[in-house]
Order: sequence, then structure tokens, then C-alpha cells
Amino acid sequence: MKLVTCGLPYANGKAHIGHLRTYVPADVYVRYLRLMGQDVLFICGSDCHGTPIVVNAEKEGISPKELVDRYHEHFQKIFRELGIEFDFYGRTDAEYNHRRTQEIVKRLIENGYVYAKEIELAYCPKCDRFLPDRYVEGICPYCGAIARGDECDQGCGRHLEPGEIKEPRCKICGSKAEFRKQKHYFFKLTAFKDFLIDYLENKLQGTENALNYARQWVKSELRDWCITRNLEWGVKFPGEDLVVYVWVDAPIGYISFTEEACKRKGLDWKEIWLNGEISDITHFIGLDIVYHHCIFWPAMLKGAGYSLPKAVVASGMVKVEGKTFSKTRGYVVWVEDDYLKAGFNPDYLRYYIVNYTSHEKDLNFSWKVFRDKVNNEIIATLGNFIYRVLHFAWKNFGRIEGKVDPVVIDKIAEIKDKIVSAINRWEFKEASDAFMELATFGNEFFQSSKPWDLIKEDRDKCMDVLASCIQIVKALVIFAYPVMPKTMSKLAEFLGFDIANARLEDALKPIESIELKKPFIPFEKVDDKKIEEMERVMLERIRRAEEAESGKELIDIKEFEKLDIRIGKILKAERIKGSKKLMRLEVDIGNEVRQIVAGIAEVYKPEEVVGKLVPVLVNIKPAKLMGVESRGMILAADVNGKPVLLHPDREVPPGSKIR
Ligand code: MSP
Ligand code: ZN
Repeated sequence: MKLVTCGLPYANGKAHIGHLRTYVPADVYVRYLRLMGQDVLFICGSDCHGTPIVVNAEKEGISPKELVDRYHEHFQKIFRELGIEFDFYGRTDAEYNHRRTQEIVKRLIENGYVYAKEIELAYCPKCDRFLPDRYVEGICPYCGAIARGDECDQGCGRHLEPGEIKEPRCKICGSKAEFRKQKHYFFKLTAFKDFLIDYLENKLQGTENALNYARQWVKSELRDWCITRNLEWGVKFPGEDLVVYVWVDAPIGYISFTEEACKRKGLDWKEIWLNGEISDITHFIGLDIVYHHCIFWPAMLKGAGYSLPKAVVASGMVKVEGKTFSKTRGYVVWVEDDYLKAGFNPDYLRYYIVNYTSHEKDLNFSWKVFRDKVNNEIIATLGNFIYRVLHFAWKNFGRIEGKVDPVVIDKIAEIKDKIVSAINRWEFKEASDAFMELATFGNEFFQSSKPWDLIKEDRDKCMDVLASCIQIVKALVIFAYPVMPKTMSKLAEFLGFDIANARLEDALKPIESIELKKPFIPFEKVDDKKIEEMERVMLERIRRAEEAESGKELIDIKEFEKLDIRIGKILKAERIKGSKKLMRLEVDIGNEVRQIVAGIAEVYKPEEVVGKLVPVLVNIKPAKLMGVESRGMILAADVNGKPVLLHPDREVPPGSKIR
């Protein structure tokens, strides 16, 4: 029995196209393996723990369990509608996963791979609590980017250990956090260095992107992992008022879900997870979680005495309309709201995801490309051939009984070999290109055989041509089924065979006789109007996100015109006694000289600014600063809170309007 798993989605938000990059190819893979006669168990489940879930539940005023229930349902529904069919879909907060996690943690402790250590952790004095992971935000100690407590998500992408983040702030109340000492537990990842080097270089299979990253990391940046957190929600760490880090109990879900799946099917899970060194386990993930799957996870399995995965297959990341995928910036396609609710055939998106590019590369989703792939490939090449053949055969004969051309059988065999080879290398684009090549071959065969002439001259010969064409149709249905299961199942039913129990070889068995009904049009065209609408929805979302990002609403020119901004010339400047920041200026704004107070004294000396031309907001309400009246405001660039004065490109008269 072979086990295939998918990265567990966080039950923390809705399914988006980024998720599908893991689930669709994995489902396609499993369906092809089954067509190749292999026995496969396909499992997944919701990742239910971790601080983001607790934080979001708190925001909504519900319990973490309620939040998780909602998204657990949601993901199951999405998978059902997209034809992603797991044998078991579990959840990591279930009793079976708590049990397996505690068992593994105990084994790691017994085997000497866990130790306690006092560490300094971010603590919010106002909320009066420790701030694990997403509860804290600050500066990445490696690259200086703004980072979350556990991950430098906008900078270098590194995993951050508790206590590592610089300048921590509480995400809940915004206060500056302090550091406090507390005892935590660490997993001795560094003890597995030699094991990992050997495993990654000689044993683990998978896509090169995953293997290469992992090999680099293991040599350069191996550190022990803190595996406990100050939370209520999670799997209890034995004997302490702490829970285990979510990345401990999440991958253990792969094991506990296998146990549950096996229980239901009368199989023995130990044959998969406790059967010696390397076991036939393939993990499908995205490139963002390679570290966890290729380093942390195998070390944990090794340390607890479990079998090791045979392969890690990592997809490239998803981009949207050429930009890096981002929910906050609006570069996202929500599977339910944007795709399914618009009524598109789920098979189209499945085809797009596997056929756009090689599995390891980044995949760009664009609505126009989507339209073109559907209309020019799925419909013009595949759908048209199938419909044309079935329609012609039904109309002119009803029953087809003819000799299939050996050239056709050879071509089908060639395509079958291409598919098998591609699937064994996780090259889903190659596999789907191969059945498209067969459809093109079919179109040419039909076209060059001219059945519409033959029918008048030689009915038997025409019948043979159609038998060959229907043979190709059957092969296409089998070969394309893993990618487009919904449509291909309907076609299989139409042709009278059971796709669920089919094999790739069945495509080669000559159809001896077949009775045809009136065929249906297998694929519906995607129209331009609909695509424009989808683009409009996306642009609108991006615009709203930009607005939210800058925190400002859009204004029209009328509102801007209310501002009277002019170039002023600084005639006099002096410090204001008792203030470090403020300077009193006399500024010529064209028709008068105004007294203005500016917060520039920390950066500029009075003698430096005299004679300078600067923009002035003239019609701001007067104000008193340190007892000095200010009638106007100097505009300057804000660079990390420090003013930098702005000057016109060349000498202009004081009073020149800025617009
Ligand atoms: N919960 C973790 C995985 C734990 S596995 C023991 C997680 N969840 S996730 O919801 O963020 O992602 C689920 C899957 O989707 C992962 O395989 C992840 O790599 C993939 N993707 C999520 N967003 C993605 C993109 N934008 N692009 C490509 N794949 C990404 O990670
Ligand atoms: Zn960083």
C-alpha cells in the first residue's frame, strides 16, 4: 500500500487558488496511480491548532473550536466540488491525533531528544501574558524585515524561534513587549545532522526544488527547535502547563489520519508507519513548507522510531495576474466565491493548475490565460474532437462495428507510455500535454480520412475510420480522467464503461462494437464578458486593498484643490527655547511673510535652512506650539520619523502654487 498525503490546510480561512496547487496535482497523481493498477491510500485533514486560529477566534469572539469547525466544513465542501477525493479527511484537534502526538512526544523524551531550557520570551505587560508566535510582531534578526513571531513572512522567509524576534510588539493591544524568562522544551534537531545529510542526499526522493533547499539548509542553519508554547488550545505537553508547537502535532496528523483510514478499511497502519527505515509515503506540499517536511519531520520520525517518507513533492508557488499571491493585497482567487459561484466547470481549473507549467515552477493565474486555455485547448482541441466523432457516428450509424487502424493503437500506446513516464517524475504538465497530443492526432486523423466523403462512397471503410476515432475518444476519456474527472466520468458513462475501475491499458483494447446515443456537448465555452467581469471583481479587490493598506480613502480633485500649497522662502530661523524639535521660521509666501513653527530642529541648524525654498501648506488653521503662534505648515518627507526638507528643482518665485 502506497500512502499519498497533502499539506494540511489551516482551518483558519477560506480555500484559495494557492491551496489548490497542492491538492489538485496530488489528486491527479493518485488517480493516475490507480489507473496504473496501484493500491493507494490518499489522506489529508485540517490543521486545527496554532496561534493564528486562536487570535482569529478571539477577534470574532468565538472559541477556536467553533472557528475550526467552520473552516473544516468549508474545505471538505471545496474538495468535494473540485473532485479532490481523499480516502480520509481528518482533523488535528481530534482525540486520535492528541493521542498519537503525546505518544510520539513521550518517545522523543525517552530517547533523549528533548531538553528543558530557560529562555527569554516576549511578554506583554498590558495583556499580562506571554506572546507566542503570531501574538507578536517585530523585526527579523536575520534580514531586518517586519516579521511575525515565528516566521519572517515578508523578508527572508526564515522560521524564527521563540525569543528571537527583535523589538517585539503585542499584536493584540499594540504595546511594546518586554522579555521575560520561562522554561520551555527543545527538540534536539542538531543531533540529527548526519542522519539528515545522508537521508537527503541518498534516500529521499522528490522534486529537485525541495531536495536542493533542504540540502542547503541542513548544512548551514540547523538549530534546535522549541516545541512548547504558552497556549490553552493545542496538544498538552506532558507534565506542564504548555501545549506542543503546532508544527509537532500537524505532521503527526499524517500518521493518526492513516490509523483512522486503516481502521475503517480493515488495514494495518503499522505497515505504513512502522515498517523499517523508508516507507512508500509521498508528501505533496508547496515550496513554503519544505523546511518542515524535509528537515524537522524526518528528524522527529527518526527520533521516535517511525518509518521515513520516501518522497516529498513540492510545487512552486502561485501568482495572481503576474503578482505575488497575497490575500491582504487582493492578489487572490477564492475558490468558492470567485470560481465556483461564477459557475465555471471545476475541471477547467484542475486542467489549468496542472497544465500551465511544470510542477516545480511558479504558476501564474490570469483570467485571460484561463479563458484561452479553456477555449483554445480544452474545447478547440479535446472537446471538439470528441463531440465531432460521437455526433458523426451517432448520426450516420448508431452502432459502430469496425476495424481499428493499427497506427491508431500504436499512437495510443505511445501516449500511454509518455503519461506513465511523466507521472513517475511528477510532471503533470507533460502528462496532460500528452493526452492533448492524442486529441490533436485524432483531429488530424478524422480530417485526413474525410469520413463525410467516405460515407457516400464506402460505408464499411467509413465505419472503420469511425471505429478508430472512437478508440481514440475512449483513450482520451481514460487518459484525461485524472485531470478532468467530472466531465470524463460522464463521457465514460456515455460510452458504457466504468471509469472508476479502468486501467490505462484499457485504452488499447479495441472496441469491437458500440451502440451510440445522441451525444452531449462535453465542455461549455468561457465567454469574454464573463472574463471581463471576473477581472473587474479582482481589480476592485486590489484597489480596495490598496486603499486599506494606505489607510486612506480616495479623494477627488475638488478635495485636493481645497489645499493652498505654495513655495515659501525661509527668511529667518531660530530655535524655540525649551524645545529640541521646534524651530521658529519667518517665511515669505509671496504676498506676505508668515511666522511658522516647524519640527525640524533635531535634524537642521537654523543657519542651514535660511534662504531655502520649501513647500508650505498655507491655509491650515493657525496653532500655538510651545506658546508660539504658527500660521502655516512646512511640508517635508518623513524618513523613519525624521524630517527631510524638499526643495524645487530650480529657483522659483516665492508664492508659486503647487498643484
Ligand atoms: N498547515 C500548514 C501545513 C501543515 S502540513 C503538516 C500549511 N497550511 S496552509 O493552509 O497554509 O497551506 C496548505 C497547503 O497549501 C500547503 O501545502 C501549502 O504549501 C499550500 N499553499 C498555500 N498557499 C500557497 C500558495 N500561495 N502557492 C502554492 N502553494 C501554497 O501550510
Ligand atoms: Zn528575515
